[in-house]
Amino acid sequence: MRGLAGKRVLISGGSSGIGAATARRFLEEGSRVVLGGLDQAEVDAAVAGLATLGEVSGLAGDVSEEAGAARLVEGGLAALGGIDVLVNNAGTAWREPFLEITPGHWDRIVAVNLRGMFLVAQAVARHMVERGSSGVILNMSSTNGLGGEADYAHYNASKGGVLLLTKTMAVELGKHGIRVNALCPGYIQTPLNSSISSGLAGDFVTAYARDHIPLGRPGLAEEVAAGYAFLASDDAAFVHGTELVIDGGQLAIM
Ligand SMILES: NC(=O)c1ccc[n+]([C@@H]2O[C@H](COP(=O)([O-])OP(=O)(O)OC[C@H]3O[C@@H](n4cnc5c(N)ncnc54)[C@H](O)[C@@H]3O)[C@@H](O)[C@H]2O)c1
Repeated sequence: MRGLAGKRVLISGGSSGIGAATARRFLEEGSRVVLGGLDQAEVDAAVAGLATLGEVSGLAGDVSEEAGAARLVEGGLAALGGIDVLVNNAGTAWREPFLEITPGHWDRIVAVNLRGMFLVAQAVARHMVERGSSGVILNMSSTNGLGGEADYAHYNASKGGVLLLTKTMAVELGKHGIRVNALCPGYIQTPLNSSISSGLAGDFVTAYARDHIPLGRPGLAEEVAAGYAFLASDDAAFVHGTELVIDGGQLAIM
């Protein structure tokens, strides 16, 4: 991908699943990477697994809290000397029927997936604007931000919010040379989805892929990482304020 070698890349939620595959992809492209995650041991394991590929370090903290988001961004700046690309990827999800969602569960999903995204993006954007440096911010949404899947009202709402956060950031930050876009993956095989599907009856993944995904299989974390890499690259220089859907055709079904 053009223009990624030497880029300073901060990846929130980079210790697992899509974020870890994205850290790997950027390192393979010659970028320098700092990755974040909620759990210190998971962050350390991810960094250890990637260390032979290039310059990578990690920071643990909760992005839904102002202090945690600030620590991630300040740590990234200290380690890299600046941030050219933010992969704003941290997120969480669980199934819960709308009629059973508690206010506490609603608040937690929105806090991690939307508040956390805002806090990290704002801190990085402020740095880019203050330095007068251009940059790229990529926010993780979902196909669940574009359609209303049952049992995910809190998650769907948070990911829909990410899309309009992304568009508004693009409108305000374009004049500073900061490109902002979102990704909307469909069903991707990751630890998050494995833990959700492990509680469901039968071979949920096979049945879900057969019934909902025209390509007939779940996506791979590496296939989403490729989307992040494209949107961060010079090949996407005029792509701004939009979302890239990576879903095996799921949203094409009516
Ligand atoms: N897996 C899918 O099918 C799918 C589809 C669309 C969107 N997404 C989104 O992609 C992103 C990554 O999901 P994944 O499937 O790779 O999940 P995952 O559970 O494998 O990874 C989630 C990452 O986010 C971090 N994280 C979670 N809560 C955090 C918090 N409060 N503070 C800091 N970091 C936190 C975790 O430590 C981990 O690094 C999420 O935003 C998710 O909503 C996933």
